[in-house]
Amino acid sequence: MAWDPKTYLDFEDERTRPAVELLARIPHKNPQSVIDLGCGPGNSTALLARRWPKARLEGLDSSEAMLDQARRSGIAATWHSGEIPSWSPRKKYDVIFANAALHWIDGQEALMKRLMSIVAKDGVFAFQVPANFNEPSHALMREVAAEGPWAAKLEGVRNIVLGTLQGYYEMLEPLTSHLDIWQTTYLQVLTGDDAVFRWVSGTGLRPFLAALEGEERDAYAHEYKTRLRAAYPMRASGKVLFPFQRLFVVAKK
Ligand SMILES: C[S@@+](CC[C@H](N)C(=O)[O-])C[C@H]1O[C@@H](n2cnc3c(N)ncnc32)[C@H](O)[C@@H]1O
Repeated sequence: MAWDPKTYLDFEDERTRPAVELLARIPHKNPQSVIDLGCGPGNSTALLARRWPKARLEGLDSSEAMLDQARRSGIAATWHSGEIPSWSPRKKYDVIFANAALHWIDGQEALMKRLMSIVAKDGVFAFQVPANFNEPSHALMREVAAEGPWAAKLEGVRNIVLGTLQGYYEMLEPLTSHLDIWQTTYLQVLTGDDAVFRWVSGTGLRPFLAALEGEERDAYAHEYKTRLRAAYPMRASGKVLFPFQRLFVVAKK
């Protein structure tokens, strides 16, 4: 199922905040070349443009819908349509930035090695990935998938592998001069009906819905929503609390 920039940006502030916090930890003062991998609609690229207005800035994404939105943003960047796993530029970059994008890619260790090999001397590779795949929001997605009449169709939907703090340290230690790794839980306060469902609809739920159609898809969504409401009850104030863990890495060459 294609990415939908509008659904994704329904929670723009919450989704962009980790990019702000990741960027704040990048020590590079004056990079010449910067790329935003999985730039999406350009919300993270805009931050890079503001921090380093003189840098040669690029954004890469595999979704045409997201890139269309990025191109319309007016950010002074060169936009590339492409897949991160097969991206092989001829030059190296002072900063490679990837906010909420690399967890879609299998083979994290090989990916770390390849991306570090594209970082210029004294450059930085910085990324953030969600680390909440064992929380109810994501566990219930898989649970409902495995239990219903749709189980066979959803069996092949990939389970995203959770990176760990120490795991990333071990992968990157031999390739870096300095590593800064941390994990944070954001207590996200959402409003409106089925807010957690709407949140995941913009990201992790897409492959599950894409594998089903018609009434079966509706039935899967209905059952998943029912369980989400029990796991994330609406408070008397109408707010829904959605704790969300994210893992950050800033790796200096
Ligand atoms: C959750 S959005 C992140 C957008 C933005 N970086 C931000 O900070 O909010 C993930 C983006 O990664 C892109 N993406 C996922 N897998 C990709 C891949 N293999 N190659 C290129 N882009 C990919 C998606 O198209 C999507 O735009």
